[in-house]
Amino acid sequence: MAVTAGSATLFEFAGLSGGYGDTVVLRGIDGSVQAGQTLGVLGRNGVGKTTLLRHLMGYMQPFSGVVLWQGAPLGRSLPFRRSRLGLAYMPQEGVVFDDLSVSDNLTLHRTRRDLSPYARYLDAFPQLGQRLRQRAGTLSGGEKKMLAFVRVLAEAKPLSLLDEPTEGVQQENIDLMAMLVRARVGEGAAFIIVEQNLGFLQQVMDTVLVLDHGRCVAQGRADEFDRERLAGFLRV
Ligand SMILES: Nc1ncnc2c1ncn2[C@@H]1O[C@H](COP(=O)(O)OP(=O)(O)O)[C@@H](O)[C@H]1O
Ligand SMILES: [Mg+2]
Repeated sequence: MAVTAGSATLFEFAGLSGGYGDTVVLRGIDGSVQAGQTLGVLGRNGVGKTTLLRHLMGYMQPFSGVVLWQGAPLGRSLPFRRSRLGLAYMPQEGVVFDDLSVSDNLTLHRTRRDLSPYARYLDAFPQLGQRLRQRAGTLSGGEKKMLAFVRVLAEAKPLSLLDEPTEGVQQENIDLMAMLVRARVGEGAAFIIVEQNLGFLQQVMDTVLVLDHGRCVAQGRADEFDRERLAGFLRV
């Protein structure tokens, strides 16, 4: 894969195959993302998008293929090591602890309970900012997604993997999420975002990878794909 002028690509994967037990789900997937860029991963339900992110974060180990961080193979390193290197992960489901307060959901993985890293996000989403002391279980499904999104973005990692962050979120907040992703990209962060919401993805992605039945069926610069072609990949 291309390496530019002496500096290795931030994150890349090549020939990635993997699955559950004996079941092969991913078949030879290649991709990469540079600092200050967003890779969108698109595809219908059940094609392997979540499975891909689980492999990239180290929750699953591939049958074959490699994952590289700044040119160095990650081998079989586990999620906590990848997190230390610079990866953050927002899973598709089970992202919020209902019995904890909104505030504790944000800070539980930190040694300090300081909310200052979250200020810009809580300003953007007053629905969360005004309910810091409430149980997270009182939030709607979309609000829980926003809470998990805020937690991951405020980690301020070089690379964030987001699995369907806009599922169930109201349109005005989806647009705010896009703006917040672009702000982090402007600061040099990279994202890999799995989505079925084309409107959101088109606001943020520089490159796109389309999965179907565990294979890559299209890949390239996002501006080489018009809306109609991308929508065709999601049609059942
Ligand atoms: N924990 C699991 N155990 C076994 N099979 C799974 C598991 N999770 C997902 N799969 C299967 O892997 C395939 C891809 O699923 P997934 O990666 O969740 O797709 P997507 O995120 O694109 O909807 C599906 O056939 C699904 O049934
Ligand atoms: Mg999924």
